Amino acid sequence: MIQKIQEITTEVNDYQIDSPEALETYRLKFLSRKGSISELFDVFKELPGIEKRDIGKPLNILKSTAEEKFNLCKEEFESSQDSLSGKIDTTLPVYQNEFGSFHPLKIVENELVDIFHSLGFDLAEGPEIEDDQHNFGALNFAEDHPARDMQDTFFIGENVLRTHTSSVQIREMEHNEPPFRLVMPGRVYRNEAVSSRSNCFFHQIEGLYVDKNVTFADLKQTLYYFVQQFFGEGIKIRFRSSYFPFTEPSAEMDIWAGIETEENKRLTKGTGWLEVLGCGMVHPNVLKACNIDPEIYTGFAFGMGIDRITMLKYGIHDIRDLFVNDTRMLGQFKGL
Ligand code: DAH
Repeated sequence: MIQKIQEITTEVNDYQIDSPEALETYRLKFLSRKGSISELFDVFKELPGIEKRDIGKPLNILKSTAEEKFNLCKEEFESSQDSLSGKIDTTLPVYQNEFGSFHPLKIVENELVDIFHSLGFDLAEGPEIEDDQHNFGALNFAEDHPARDMQDTFFIGENVLRTHTSSVQIREMEHNEPPFRLVMPGRVYRNEAVSSRSNCFFHQIEGLYVDKNVTFADLKQTLYYFVQQFFGEGIKIRFRSSYFPFTEPSAEMDIWAGIETEENKRLTKGTGWLEVLGCGMVHPNVLKACNIDPEIYTGFAFGMGIDRITMLKYGIHDIRDLFVNDTRMLGQFKGL
């Protein structure tokens, strides 16, 4: 009898209960009316009193051990069924979370904003639907100014989709007092045929610095610092005189790309120089339109295409690749 009790004790201890079904089998096997422990008790009842003394204690211990194990497992299954975890198969392979990435245009925009931020330029933004006054009038485009023809415009009733971020200069200056030291990134629109080099919308970043005694030398040095930060220390630049209604004098800035490779020849049309931005000293009429006295304040402004330098930086040949939202392309910018 003692041996039987020991055997069943070992069986109880070794029994694997890993599911509610296994628990039920365990109960039937050991604890039910017909289970092996109940059977032992039946035998026990028939024993002579003298033997009962030695058997009673281990038999009771076996019974309570078996019951304890049953209750413990039962509780465990019940509590895990209450919570969600009981319904989750934790043995399944881990689901791989896909991380997103910033769009290359945003990566470059952030980089530009950071560089100018390090020079004390703050960030400003304006609306994409503009009125004529902010997009043209206050920027010194006369009603019949031929410069208006430079920009093929999308009209929305009386308003326009802004053709450049220069409109944000006006929005900032008209309601605030100088000094201004701002960069203003954003999307702009032109009614142009879509091709690998031009799109009906693209992105610009505008810069503006207005204060007392701001000179063309400040403009050159600021932009020189910027290109060194962005393109690298050894970069060569040049300024060509140009025309914009809202700056006087006006210039365009080129960087030296070289003519060593076929690619550079193609990009620079054989000159080796690549235009990156337009700039100039803020026209006195623009300051006046914003109630700023041009006798006291001067300033410089610049504007550049973010798409263009993004394409340069990452060797993207077709501007449309920036806008198709193809994750095979965008996924390459993870972690940047
Ligand atoms: N708004 C001009 C364009 O879209 C770019 C530009 C040129 C902005 C000169 C400026 C500037 O602020 O000074 O072509």
